[in-house]
Amino acid sequence: MLLPKGVQRNISLAPFAAYKVGGAADYFFEASTEIELVKVIDWAFHSKIPYFVLGSGSNLLIRDTGFRGLVIYVGPLTRSWKIELLEGEGRFRVPAAFSKAELLDFALMNGWSGLEFSAGIPGTLGGAVYMNAGTRWGSYESVIESVRLWIPKLGIVEKPATEMGFKYRGHGEGALSKGAIVLSVDIKLQKSSDNGSLSFAMVDRILSYRGARQALERPSCGSVFKNPEGSSMGAGRLIEAANLKGQAIGGAQISTKHANFILNTGEAKAKDIEDLVEFIQKTIFEKYKIELELELIIIGQ
Ligand code: EPU
Repeated sequence: MLLPKGVQRNISLAPFAAYKVGGAADYFFEASTEIELVKVIDWAFHSKIPYFVLGSGSNLLIRDTGFRGLVIYVGPLTRSWKIELLEGEGRFRVPAAFSKAELLDFALMNGWSGLEFSAGIPGTLGGAVYMNAGTRWGSYESVIESVRLWIPKLGIVEKPATEMGFKYRGHGEGALSKGAIVLSVDIKLQKSSDNGSLSFAMVDRILSYRGARQALERPSCGSVFKNPEGSSMGAGRLIEAANLKGQAIGGAQISTKHANFILNTGEAKAKDIEDLVEFIQKTIFEKYKIELELELIIIGQ
């Protein structure tokens, strides 16, 4: 098959995922502009090649057997994505590939408030839309006005946030049609009244909270499971109550600090992590009749 310029074959994905595990993609392309991104996805769609857009891989487990299709990498190695000023105070168009941390820095440095809740959340803005990323202090739905998508056969479509059906760690059923890709996000921030000192203080507080409670020293994807609806205990507390802290399969271990984190202690295979995920789900179901739903996204054969 004749490949578009820049498409590489058989590239290992492990370096691109937070867990540092995973096999190779059959095809790999690094996109640094929206035009490149749309062109290559259009090619994959018409060639019937499965595709996946990879940001910083912070919430992703790639199986050891890799991905039989095209991975389009738009993550942090690609520095060309820029924030665009829109008309109206505090309105910005942010490429989906833009990093959340850099967006927060931009807001803080320019006296805009509204994104403090996101301090410490890894990954790109595209992922933030997909899963309405957030913390106990808020989630992205509070700043998103609309989302620009590329949808197979329709091309570029803009959807107001009201049509996205955002909910805890997710979006409404059908809000993103099959094969849709997030291109950019229009957000609205508020002018800080005090030169941003309250915002800086809040970000510091959140970062210390996370540092004290979360296992940040080894490769992980953050929370593996969503907090179950209708349970007074979050996923971490439940897993701890089931005495699973520290349990390991191969190189994958449940953190002894925060039980909703699975760590790669060095030599983990994706299979070890997935087996541990299933072991946790089975144990929690047997003990508490609660089905833990994954926040982590798993791709590959
Ligand atoms: N807890 C335990 N044992 C544990 C872990 C937590 O008893 O092993 C207790 C804590 O002591 C606390 C409660 O459970 O009383 C909640 O824990 P925490 O404050 O750490 O929050 P969380 O619900 O586990 C959520 C998000 C995190 C986010 C934090 C802080 C989910 C699934 N996770 O965690 O998001 O950073 O709140 O806002 O909603 C992520 O999504 O990757 C992530 C890290």
